[in-house]
Amino acid sequence: MSAIVHDYVENYIRGLIKRDDQALLELEEYALANHVPIIQKEASQLLETLVRMARPARILELGTAIGYSSILMSTCAGRQTKITTVERSPEMVGIARDNIKKYGYADRIDVLEGDCLEILESLEGKYDFIFMDAGKSHYNDFFPHCSRLLNENGVIVSDNVLFRGMIASDELVEKRMTTIVKKMRKYLEMLSANEEFHTSVVPVGDGIAISTRRNRNE
Ligand SMILES: C[S@@+](CC[C@H](N)C(=O)[O-])C[C@H]1O[C@@H](n2cnc3c(N)ncnc32)[C@H](O)[C@@H]1O
Repeated sequence: MSAIVHDYVENYIRGLIKRDDQALLELEEYALANHVPIIQKEASQLLETLVRMARPARILELGTAIGYSSILMSTCAGRQTKITTVERSPEMVGIARDNIKKYGYADRIDVLEGDCLEILESLEGKYDFIFMDAGKSHYNDFFPHCSRLLNENGVIVSDNVLFRGMIASDELVEKRMTTIVKKMRKYLEMLSANEEFHTSVVPVGDGIAISTRRNRNE
C-alpha cells in the first residue's frame, strides 16, 4: 500500500475497478510476478479518465517498462492516437515491443530506446498529453522539455509525486531516498510556483500531479 491514503480507502477504490481487457490483465499479472513497477491500479483509473477527457491525438510517455500504461492509454484514446514512449532499459524495451506487437498496438505505440533527457532534447513536434513516469529524481530536468513539447491545451501528468508519502512527511523518509525526496519536493514547489501552469496534486496511487497551461488572458 502507498502510505498516502488509508489502506481501507485504497482497497475499497481498487475493488470498484473492474477491468476486463485481457492484455491489461495479463500485463498486471506479469508485472506482479516479475516485480516490475507499473502504475498503481487506482492511479491508472485516473490516468484513463484524464486521457478520455483530453482526447489527445499525440501522447508522449516517459518510462515504458513492459508497456502497460502505454497500452492502457491506447485502449481509451482510440486507434487514431499515436503514442511515443521512452525507455532506457534494453531489456524492458524488448519486452514492451513484444507486448505491443502481441496485443495488436504496433501501429499506434512507438517505443524509443534511450535516456529520457537525451531523447527529449531531440524530440520535435507537439504532444497533447505527456505522462511522466521515469526517473523520479529528474522530473525537474524533464519538465522544461515537456513544456516546450506540449500543445497549448495539453496536459502533463506526473506520477509518483508523493513517493510512498515521503514527500509529505519527514517521518516517512528512508535515508537512501533522501535525494529523490529533495528533488521531488523541488519539482512540486517549482510546479506550484509556475505562472504558466496550473497544477493539482492528487493523493491517488503514489501521488499524481496534473498540470495544464493557464489561459494567456487569465
Ligand atoms: C515506473 S516504471 C514505468 C511504468 C510504466 N509507465 C507503467 O505504468 O506501465 C519506470 C521506467 O522508467 C525507466 N527509466 C527510469 N529512468 C529513466 C530515464 N532517465 N530514461 C528512460 N527511462 C528511464 C525504468 O527503466 C523503468 O522501466
